[in-house]
Amino acid sequence: MHLQEELKSRLGHAGFRPGQRELIESVLAGRDALGVMPTGGGKSLCYQLPALLKPGVAVVISPLIALMKDQVDALRAKGIGAEFYNSSLTEEDRRRVWQTLQAAAAGNSPLISKDGASQGSADTKPLKLLYIAPERMQAEGFMNLLTRIPVSLLAIDEAHCISQWGHDFRPDYRKLGALRSLLKPAGERVPVIALTATATQEVQGDIVERLKMDDAARIITGFRRPNLSFEVRKATGREDKFRYLRELIGQALEVGDGEKSGSAVVYCSTRKNVERVAEELKKAFRKARVGFYHAGLSDEDRAEVQDDFLSDRSKIMVATNAFGMGIDKPTVRLVSHFDIPGSVEAYYQEAGRAGRDGKPGRCVLLFNHSDVATQEFFIDQLESSNGDDSESESAADATALRVRTQRTMLKQLVRYAYATECRQRMLLDYFGDIEAKEVESCGACDRCVRAEGGATSEEADPALALASRQALSAVARLNSRFGRSRISEVLKGSKSAALIEAGLNQQKTYGLLSAWPMERVRKLLDALTEAGLLRVAGIDYPLLEITPEGVRAMKGEEPVRLGLGFGRVPAKGSYSSSSSSASRPSASSDPESSPAGASVGEEPMSVDSGLLLKLKTFRRDEAQRKKVPAYVIFPDKTLMALAESCPSDLDAMAIIPGIGPKKLATYGEALLELLGSR
Ligand SMILES: Nc1ncnc2c1ncn2[C@@H]1O[C@H](COP(=O)(O)OP(=O)(O)OP(=O)(O)O)[C@@H](O)[C@H]1O
Ligand SMILES: [Mg+2]
Ligand SMILES: [Zn+2]
Repeated sequence: MHLQEELKSRLGHAGFRPGQRELIESVLAGRDALGVMPTGGGKSLCYQLPALLKPGVAVVISPLIALMKDQVDALRAKGIGAEFYNSSLTEEDRRRVWQTLQAAAAGNSPLISKDGASQGSADTKPLKLLYIAPERMQAEGFMNLLTRIPVSLLAIDEAHCISQWGHDFRPDYRKLGALRSLLKPAGERVPVIALTATATQEVQGDIVERLKMDDAARIITGFRRPNLSFEVRKATGREDKFRYLRELIGQALEVGDGEKSGSAVVYCSTRKNVERVAEELKKAFRKARVGFYHAGLSDEDRAEVQDDFLSDRSKIMVATNAFGMGIDKPTVRLVSHFDIPGSVEAYYQEAGRAGRDGKPGRCVLLFNHSDVATQEFFIDQLESSNGDDSESESAADATALRVRTQRTMLKQLVRYAYATECRQRMLLDYFGDIEAKEVESCGACDRCVRAEGGATSEEADPALALASRQALSAVARLNSRFGRSRISEVLKGSKSAALIEAGLNQQKTYGLLSAWPMERVRKLLDALTEAGLLRVAGIDYPLLEITPEGVRAMKGEEPVRLGLGFGRVPAKGSYSSSSSSASRPSASSDPESSPAGASVGEEPMSVDSGLLLKLKTFRRDEAQRKKVPAYVIFPDKTLMALAESCPSDLDAMAIIPGIGPKKLATYGEALLELLGSR
């Protein structure tokens, strides 16, 4: 029978999704395979179908104990013999599964019934899939039994958990490298199929290495989820976030109706926040049930809230990252992060819960820079757990590595939050998806949508870059003393009594943007804040202050890059800032009075070609040493960025595109030396 017919008759799907056929064919041919497919891309099917077509039992490793039951139930409902064995089983079920496995080991066709009850009824099926959690490998008795069963294939779901470079490293996964050789093949050998949605190239390499998948077929389908839109909303605090959430969730619930009406997931970084946010949302949405989920709940409570949400009895789920991986509710229309997660991988994985039915899903990160501190705190805790003397040196090294990796990952997420380019493209780029190059603009993220509202890149607008420097200067001179309105008044040259009384009309920056409408001056300050050049400080009253990046931009050491959201002036020159600066002497070296276009850094920074050559030679040597093509070491883009920014330490290097934690660890020091920073 054709593969497609098998798919239809056994699992009821009409056709394959991208990548599925290739992965399945590879496993059927006995070859190892690594599949990187987006969340919801249909990875499960890639081991389920071969499991049904090959003799023996497929062993499926998954960290998601809470989901195993659902997966097994769904298979049984299709008449497929499947079991799971984990800590959540009752004593009775455990005994039953054990007996089934013993029968398999003894060479009897182990039959299990549709509802998992005892054997022998008319409705029995042979056992084809066995789901286990990686912890099981520590149980000697179980392993003894497992290694006597004829195995068709070994599937490793959520395979990124094996890698320390990944965002969800689980030490138990490390033992999987040895598992295959212990298993008894039903055919010639036991092919391994490793699946994940979130693996950078480094993590992919690590998976292949750890699982000893020689000559594995690698099938990396696009990371792109074209039906998802990505947004980052800068929030000034908790209240601001609640305001956004109420609006976003309200919209999500209105999509569709009845069975099909939309659901929303809100992610928080701590249990306390989960409960607080759930409380707040219960008040706002009295009719929709709000569930919350975190690792502090009992197993039963967690199973219940998860079940309520999946079966649509509740529409809103507030959760920590304990909830998510593998959750497949089709009608989730919104995934909003109330707090930032620890990495881009985690973010993409969690956001990937939206739009699983292929219809539009919104992914909105509510961002307040001070939230970064919470994540930093988690990392610090990990680091301080390292102080234990009883730990062996290698364990201490491993922790230090984790700490460094996590800091890098957090920085990359922060970079995402402040990014001014298309978010979809940035995410694809992060995962090394070649499709990233083809995405000029996704047309759906906040950056693209606003850009289509008539704005263009500010880099092409020297007058605006100058105005930005003037505004930065105005803030720098009054650092942390005034808020947005007062500073706008200064720039506008307002004659308000309060302003004059405070002597602010004496400021050098007074009236620099007098030709601009007030509203636009305020928007410029917002855009500078959003770009990370200014930040809002102050407890009782939001005061503007300049950030270190802002200082560099003000001095012209770095180009001003505003979000595409800050539109170019509609009619060229209609309220261009140059009219105001032209009325002032332009000889001074102060940024606010330099002539338009002279010192602005909109041109790409000039690259030291000697340095670039040195970097290229370094790359060539490394590529020859490792016998890989040069671009595998670093793409051109990364070398350019290195030469351009000349990072002075590892932290600064970590945020350069193309330098992930592993590359940083491998090449960081050597590069610093080469760049003359050591
Ligand atoms: N070929 C197909 N045709 C139609 N539907 C499919 C096909 N393959 C998978 N699906 C459906 O897509 C949904 C997502 O599949 P699955 O849970 O395997 O995704 P996943 O890739 O494992 O995602 P995650 O990374 O979130 O675990 C399921 O409802 C599944 O039934
Ligand atoms: Mg899955
Ligand atoms: Zn976009």
